[in-house]
Amino acid sequence: KYMELDKALDLIADVPDFPEPGVLFRDLSPLFADAGGFKAVTHALADTVDPDADLLAGVEARGFLLAAAVGYSRGLGVVLIRKPGKLPRVAGRVEYTLEYGTATVELPEGIVEAGQRVAVLDDVLATGGTVAATCKLLEDAKAQVTGVSVVMELGALGGRSVLEGRRVEALRVC
Ligand code: PRP
Ligand code: HPA
Repeated sequence: KYMELDKALDLIADVPDFPEPGVLFRDLSPLFADAGGFKAVTHALADTVDPDADLLAGVEARGFLLAAAVGYSRGLGVVLIRKPGKLPRVAGRVEYTLEYGTATVELPEGIVEAGQRVAVLDDVLATGGTVAATCKLLEDAKAQVTGVSVVMELGALGGRSVLEGRRVEALRVC
């Protein structure tokens, strides 16, 4: 029997003024490090993934960890959505605005097939820029995004509004 989900999510630490003054950073490190907590969150996230999904997309870096665990649990493979300059062969690239700064995500070439149903996983939904860019990247590759699953949604940052029309599941909304 694994840890109760609420107790697991309570392991997430609030760190003020990171990475810059005024930002309250939700640090999932203690949750990932706790065997029972990590298991509880993995199972809860796995339950949010569409039964028809063919593949999981994990967003670098913390999304990788979640996508790997959920993929193992659900018997699905993972496509790694990467920060720029990491992939030897790039199928597509999307630039976006972050809560603090700008960023780019890249899709590896030859992994996602047209028509494939892909579920997107990440740890935190903040402004939604990262996940929206990830969905665009996948859809540019003619995949179908089945939904977005995150551990924590920072409701005040409005991420859900940039993902309008998509199924967005968050284990906790703050
Ligand atoms: C964080 C987080 C999400 C994104 C959320 O990643 O893991 O991917 O930001 O923000 P958004 O909704 O405003 O786009 P970060 O860039 O800190 O990368 P990391 O996982 O490599 O630490
Ligand atoms: N925690 C983790 N990742 C994030 C956050 C946060 O508070 N905000 C934007 N990305």
